[in-house]
Amino acid sequence: MSRFDPAVFAAIVGEPHVVTDADAARRFLTDWTGRRTGRADAVIRPRSTGEVAAVLTACRGRGIAVVPQGGNTGLVGGSVPADGDRPTIVLSTERMTDVGTPDPVEMCVGVQAGATVAAIEAAATSVGAHFAVDLASRDSATAGGIVATNAGGVHVVRHGGTRAQVLGIEAVLADGSVLRRWNPLRKDNVGYDLPGLLAGSEGTLAVITGVLFALVERPGQTAVAMVAIDSIDEVFALVAAVRTAGLTVEAVELMTKAGVRLVVESGSRPALAGESAFQVLLEVSGAEPAQRLADVLDTVGVADAVVEDGPARALWELREKHTEVIARASATVPVKLDVAIPRRGMGGFVAELDVWAPSEPYPCRPIVFGHAADGNLHVNLLDIPDEEQSAAAELMLAKVVERGGSVSAEHGVGRDKAAWLERVRDSADVAAMRAIKHAWDPEGLLNPGVLFV
Ligand code: FAD
Ligand code: MLT
Ligand code: ZN
Repeated sequence: MSRFDPAVFAAIVGEPHVVTDADAARRFLTDWTGRRTGRADAVIRPRSTGEVAAVLTACRGRGIAVVPQGGNTGLVGGSVPADGDRPTIVLSTERMTDVGTPDPVEMCVGVQAGATVAAIEAAATSVGAHFAVDLASRDSATAGGIVATNAGGVHVVRHGGTRAQVLGIEAVLADGSVLRRWNPLRKDNVGYDLPGLLAGSEGTLAVITGVLFALVERPGQTAVAMVAIDSIDEVFALVAAVRTAGLTVEAVELMTKAGVRLVVESGSRPALAGESAFQVLLEVSGAEPAQRLADVLDTVGVADAVVEDGPARALWELREKHTEVIARASATVPVKLDVAIPRRGMGGFVAELDVWAPSEPYPCRPIVFGHAADGNLHVNLLDIPDEEQSAAAELMLAKVVERGGSVSAEHGVGRDKAAWLERVRDSADVAAMRAIKHAWDPEGLLNPGVLFV
């Protein structure tokens, strides 16, 4: 008999925010990729930190597992419950969307965990500043989610990832206590970096209820180029030339012919007349950026390029539509690998992929794209039969590890890659992480099955 009693949670969050109806709960129980559907006794939708604390206290006393969920755009199966019979709730932050008043002097803004990336950027813009994290899921991805996954996005090359933007955090621990570090100081070395620990914790250590984010200067004038290149190595020569010209690099996004073709076939306007093995989208800032970027491209001598004044949304669309068109184009849920490869090895890795894919004992269409300056490639293997998918992922990730890469660059480990943790971290490392997990969540209630198998 489940220890879950809806009345207990209705007394905390209000009856309408204890979702037990199967149809109403559906959108919370299947992840964005469609690969995973889990089971929960209810979806609980608190409005405040106090309510989250009361919910966790009630869960702890009843051994009920808690899956924190923000925008449910995660791509590694960490945001939905397992399909088991353990008493479980999904704790959704979708009602916790307050955005505080941005502070132009301290250059920061405090938000509730359920505030979207787009809402945070809108607040930053209102004081002439900018939120450094940007990603195509900006309208749904939330403050709690990007911190919990330590999300990257397109401006890591300029500002670093989400962890680098966290000044303060408020979170509810498994015992219902509230951890709050909330000051705009850029230097505060008193004790362990608990906000930094919660970044990348994927809902396994605490429920983040608020984040104090740093804001950065708006980049001023920008220009965006789409450049045809024949080899990945050309990317880094281009980036060096742009920097030597005194321009600031804001984004470097790599695409392949196959990916661009899919996006164009979906209706987007192609940027360049011909097809090249690769295209790279370069976003830069500085004085007269478009003219200077065009001059750099002339000097370097590229096969083809187009340069537009920022924001150049049509050029960005060619990059940002990759995820959705790939999901639609694949006959099966695509195997999505989010890997980091040492920059010098990226070309060889992608070349090997083109040899490997057709020779495997199953149909496979590889489409690669990603944040090239970070060494971060998104390797999507399309059309692989379900029963062959884990073998394909296994083979691919083994190649990444062989090349000194990471099996998870920015999406986190989730459930999808939990089996790889002990393959890529040594026993002392895993033991230290398990010790932290046990100290923070001794009953293993927070997102069981995520990060650790
Ligand atoms: P969810 O998916 O709801 O949850 C993700 C993880 O965080 C889960 O483990 C969950 O338990 C945990 N979590 C969520 N909220 C909390 C909380 N309040 N407290 C504790 N744990 C919590 N990712 C990138 O890094 N870079 C990209 O460029 C990028 N682009 C994307 C483009 C598209 C079209 C899509 C669909 C996804 C993309 N993603 C990208 C992946 C995804 O958007 C990020 O992982 C994002 O951080 C997830 O945020 P979310 O609010 O949707 O979190
Ligand atoms: C992106 O960069 O678009 C994302 O990380 C999503 C993906 O990998 O599909
Ligand atoms: Zn990405």
